[in-house]
Amino acid sequence: MANVLITGGAGFIGSHTCLVLLEAGHQLVALDNFATSSPESLRRVLAIAPPAAKARLRVLEGDIRDPLALDQAFSLGGGRFDAVIHFAGLKSVDQSVREPLSYWDVNVAGSRNLLSAMIKHHCHTLVFSSSATVYGHPHHIPIAESAPVQPINPYGHTKAAVEQMLADLASTVIENQAVAPSAERPPWRIARLRYFNPVGAHPSGRIGEDPLGPPSNLFPFVSQVALGQRPALRIFGADWPTPDGTGIRDYIHVMDLAEGHLAALEALWNGPAQMLTLNLGRGRGYSVLEVVKAFEQASGRSVPFQFVARRPGDAPWSVADPSEAGRQLGWWARRDLEEMCRDGWAWQRSHPQGYRSVG
Ligand code: WQD
Repeated sequence: MANVLITGGAGFIGSHTCLVLLEAGHQLVALDNFATSSPESLRRVLAIAPPAAKARLRVLEGDIRDPLALDQAFSLGGGRFDAVIHFAGLKSVDQSVREPLSYWDVNVAGSRNLLSAMIKHHCHTLVFSSSATVYGHPHHIPIAESAPVQPINPYGHTKAAVEQMLADLASTVIENQAVAPSAERPPWRIARLRYFNPVGAHPSGRIGEDPLGPPSNLFPFVSQVALGQRPALRIFGADWPTPDGTGIRDYIHVMDLAEGHLAALEALWNGPAQMLTLNLGRGRGYSVLEVVKAFEQASGRSVPFQFVARRPGDAPWSVADPSEAGRQLGWWARRDLEEMCRDGWAWQRSHPQGYRSVG
């Protein structure tokens, strides 16, 4: 059993990852400021997890920008964590364009704060929640980890900045292997995980994606149209250079993503000081129209739509080459689009208002 700090543990991917780690027998402290998440998600996680897990999850309300909150988290963990999984951050591309400094503050200054706390408390194993957004408009599809990092929005810039911070930390040891690790050059074990498009929900329908306000992402918007909460889906562009003219993305089930984090932790624990950079995607792209059709089939509801102008900053095509994660972690995304739609619909149908719904 390992002792793990999960920042942003109440969020969409964080809560699903907490569940997977509890089921694997680990002990967790979930730190979250609940600015874009609800503590209810972690209460649901405990309701789903095995009864014995209840004693293995402690929740602390706090902000990664607050050194005292981080000290509290480390002391709540008994003063020593075997690893940190760092989800806490802001993740809306649109919002990042409107409020860039908030993104640099939370995502970059917050991450720097966390790393200082990790060094202070002698923890040097980190899984970082990065994003395919760092690739910007990719030159080649599928996208390998060797593709240029060329973000095109403030959100992507902040993810790339934290990735660079981690690379600089890791290089202080890896390049100087001849030099024994020391207090100044501890043996960092880092995994930078670049998510493609996380969607769906735990099959129980009890935890899922709970966006604040009108969703900017496709899946939650389609779910709300299917439920009748919104009249129609606006499809951003029907003239993309794709088979049906609509945008293609690599959707990955959130449970596959959560399991990928456990696999990354296990690879780091069993490996040398290193930095892994891995795409977490399925390597299979679906167009907007294909998603609409699959969701209608899974939900039995119709999803009316209208074509509108392209969304600024959108790329026509984004699909991962996930083979490196397969080689390094022995992990592959297993769940298909039908399961993503079925599980996402089970959550949305039973939680029209997300965690603010009764039940
Ligand atoms: C998917 C497709 C849209 C909404 C974003 C972030 C990325 C990651 C995942 C955090 C595109 C189309 C969408 C709508 C539409 N988040 N669409 N109508 O833009 O690939 O990625 O979320 O890491 O960082 O950039 O996802 O779901 O917004 O769009 O037609 O109302 O659906 O044009 O082709 P995206 P998305």
